[in-house]
Amino acid sequence: MFLHIVGARPNFPKVKPLMEEMRKNGMYQKLLHTGQHYDYLMSKVFFSELDIPVPDFHLDGYLGKTHAEQTGNIMIELEQVFQSLEPKGVIVYGDINSTLSAALSATKLHIPVIHIEAGCRSFDRMMPEEVNRVLVDHISDYLFCTDSYSVKNLINEGITENVYLSGNLMIDTLKTLSIDDEPNENVLLTLHRPSNVDDEDKLFKILDDIDSLEEQVIFPTHPRVRKIINDKKFNNIKIVEPMSYKEFTTNLNNCKYAITDSGGVQCEASVLNTPLITLRDSTEHMDTVEFGTNTLCLDSTEIKNIKLKNSDYSPEIWDGNSAKRIVEVLKSI
Ligand code: UD1
Repeated sequence: MFLHIVGARPNFPKVKPLMEEMRKNGMYQKLLHTGQHYDYLMSKVFFSELDIPVPDFHLDGYLGKTHAEQTGNIMIELEQVFQSLEPKGVIVYGDINSTLSAALSATKLHIPVIHIEAGCRSFDRMMPEEVNRVLVDHISDYLFCTDSYSVKNLINEGITENVYLSGNLMIDTLKTLSIDDEPNENVLLTLHRPSNVDDEDKLFKILDDIDSLEEQVIFPTHPRVRKIINDKKFNNIKIVEPMSYKEFTTNLNNCKYAITDSGGVQCEASVLNTPLITLRDSTEHMDTVEFGTNTLCLDSTEIKNIKLKNSDYSPEIWDGNSAKRIVEVLKSI
């Protein structure tokens, strides 16, 4: 039995196509949700909208506030689950704290770790996700990469065995959605990285700069940001609840351009040919900057001066068949 571990919003559109393909191939699998994201709009809505099976296991204890508490508590709980289930392999997604917890607990029990989205590197160790990525890759037994840059990153770190260029599961899901094409003049905004939102002065400076843009800005707010901005009023920024996957990608497809600090949005914007400004000084998706619609911007005062890029760049391997390629390999384990 293979056990999938998910915990936070970006994991959900990735687990969906892989579970579906494994089911079609008659593979025995179970799904565990760590509870890292627990709000309805951050988690459950994705399961119902994307028709992801209800998790077989759900950790719902208090996970803690700090990274160490969250990572450690999830590890301890997962160790017990792994010991009783003895899965043939544990499948972990991306770079969130739950991914690291699961990979560590599994590897110490000598259970093979299968890492989806291996080899992504921003080379910025200040990002908690970068630390998670590096650690998980080095203890994984099977590594599935979304693009050739990721494969090269792994080779540069001496990881060459069981590395597969499989494509992007999130794009598999994106391609199955029927997204309305109704362009508007809005700007879509997402912000949640600690480096942008944890310092209140910095967050308000970014929001003030964005509020002074000409366009109406739609800002689905992550709960951690919502708590900080509270009832602050803006002229052009419209604060809305977190969106479901379909609602978000529809908005991303139709907006004039988007501003983000997310990872996945960089790939989605390039595939949808939506100009994107990423408020970070580094990215784990450098190809979207070199060939796609993405522009990095560290200083939010510069947003209004950026020349927006259109490009229909999408790597050939992002063809909607990533799950099929991964399953072919899993069948041989
Ligand atoms: C996590 C991931 C990040 C991913 C993001 C997607 C890590 C290190 N980071 O960041 O890579 O891009 O998810 O959203 O794992 N909160 C709620 N309700 C929720 C979830 C979170 O209120 O459903 C609040 C809590 O106060 C929590 C805080 O947000 O302490 C941060 O949540 P956490 O899961 O630690 O990290 P994210 O910022 O969501």
